[in-house]
Amino acid sequence: MSIIASHLTALVEVAARRAGLAGEGVVIEPCMPTKDPTHGDYQSNAAFRLCKGTAYKSEQAVALLKEHFPQDPAVARVEIAGKGFLNLTLADEWLAEDVTARSRDERLGAPEPGAGKTLVIDYSSPNIAKRMHVGHLRSTLIGGAFDRIFRFLGWTVIADNHLGDWGTPYGKLMVAWKEWRNDAAYREDPIGELDRLYRWFGERAKEDPTLLERARQETVRLQNREPATLALWKEFVERTMVELRSIYDRLGCRFDVFLGESAYADDLGPLLAELEAKGFAEHSKGGLIVRFEEKDGKGLSEQPLLVRKADGAALYSTTDLATIRHRVQTWSPARAIYVVDARQSLHFRQVFAAARKVGLAPAGLELVHVGFGILRLPDGGIVTSRSASRGAAEERGEQSVNLVDVLDTAAQRAFAVVTEKNPELPEAERRQIAEVVGVGTIKYFDLSQNPQSDITFDWDRALSLDGGSAVYLQYAYARMHSILRKAGVADKLPDVPISVAHPSERALAVLVARTPEVILAAAEAYRPNLLADHLEALVQAVGRFYESCPVLRDDVPQDLRERRLSLVHTVAHTLRIGLSLLGIGVVPRM
Ligand code: ARG
Repeated sequence: MSIIASHLTALVEVAARRAGLAGEGVVIEPCMPTKDPTHGDYQSNAAFRLCKGTAYKSEQAVALLKEHFPQDPAVARVEIAGKGFLNLTLADEWLAEDVTARSRDERLGAPEPGAGKTLVIDYSSPNIAKRMHVGHLRSTLIGGAFDRIFRFLGWTVIADNHLGDWGTPYGKLMVAWKEWRNDAAYREDPIGELDRLYRWFGERAKEDPTLLERARQETVRLQNREPATLALWKEFVERTMVELRSIYDRLGCRFDVFLGESAYADDLGPLLAELEAKGFAEHSKGGLIVRFEEKDGKGLSEQPLLVRKADGAALYSTTDLATIRHRVQTWSPARAIYVVDARQSLHFRQVFAAARKVGLAPAGLELVHVGFGILRLPDGGIVTSRSASRGAAEERGEQSVNLVDVLDTAAQRAFAVVTEKNPELPEAERRQIAEVVGVGTIKYFDLSQNPQSDITFDWDRALSLDGGSAVYLQYAYARMHSILRKAGVADKLPDVPISVAHPSERALAVLVARTPEVILAAAEAYRPNLLADHLEALVQAVGRFYESCPVLRDDVPQDLRERRLSLVHTVAHTLRIGLSLLGIGVVPRM
């Protein structure tokens, strides 16, 4: 089993060589799936590029490709379309075997292009002593999907949660804690109280600037690791971690390390000294900056990166540079991806360019910022993670929303939907289904859209039974499972290949066969929504299959029934794995 598109592209390449069209270094355009089955299953437009610089027109080049196309068990028909397209139709028998084999494999026969390579994913990364809000949720969901997808593709993934847990915010918080804390409120809801104190500090400091000076001194005490200050900071960190872990558990997220900003605090001084000594950084207005040239990145020559402020303090960017060094030394990754609000894109462009310039990032390390848009709430509230500075969103009057509330609401609404559909199921089971559906609802709403887009949460769409929602896909899974149960094969599958005789069966098989290439494309484009779209198409195709191909009806001959059951199993298997890569669970009945 391989990636079908790549297999077909390799065949086109053989044809091109045989036809004398492909010399040294000629690029063969990859075969692409067709939208319309009357154009075959895959299409090659290689002829257009191959005829360049030859005496042939594209029509002639494509005719040569067809003439020299090698015999291959995967391909039943090779046809010319338009002025140079080659339409390729897979052979039914080959397709049935290929897909049946994939359905017996937990990896769907996918390749492992990441084998032997390490990927660091920096995601979620909320701030200590603050409520994690929907902005960090996007990073958590998108980053979590990458974690699963890249591991599926063979990468060794290090999921690193770069908590915001150091620096001036904690100095401010400590002043607020000493001045205004409400112990009862803290016992009841520690993070809520810390969150309130931090905001309250912001309010008060507007009127009383001496508070800022006190906060600065607290920050210095923290940085000097004075025991009482450090103990209080640890208390804040531990409290926050309790809450975070419960959210990560609920969302089914995992991290290999939690190396927050504090983990690098001691590296900053030496790093800055080194940058200065080696001439990588220069003085400007009392601070220290790394300057860029235009070749380091568009517009960067005008936007040097500040790495030390005039008051001597290091910054978010300094920590990110130290973090890159640590990651390189510890894991030698081939790639590091940062799943962070798109509003931090300049920050990452500067940090990456600086890391290259000063030799912290070796040439073999690819650094990628996967930015995402804003998630708005239906009532107009904007919720994002920290952009320029902590608290900036609140200063702009943007509303933040408690993530646990969002999850609870999703589970409640899912419970109502499940109860309406299945009043006969015991309540405990309906609750358990509701949790899987509820968490899936939030995940799918986000992951089924392009990460770059700003999105507005919409309960009707998120819970729609007609498509575009987790529940639509989960329901389709449960229905397939119920067919398999009724036939008594849910646990033990008949050992027969799938049926591809009917066009709606064949269409399903082709979609299943394409799944690994879709997963690969989703990883390459950093777009989990490509996988979501594919799963949606798969479920729509099952709908068409049910319309034309009875499975359990009495008049269906035994062998056809078994082959159709095998197909249903295959699709359920693919849907389950696809959803699991998005971090979404399925239930056998709902
Ligand atoms: N804690 C930051 C925030 O809430 C996100 C950190 C992202 N990761 C990084 N390496 N800068 O905005």
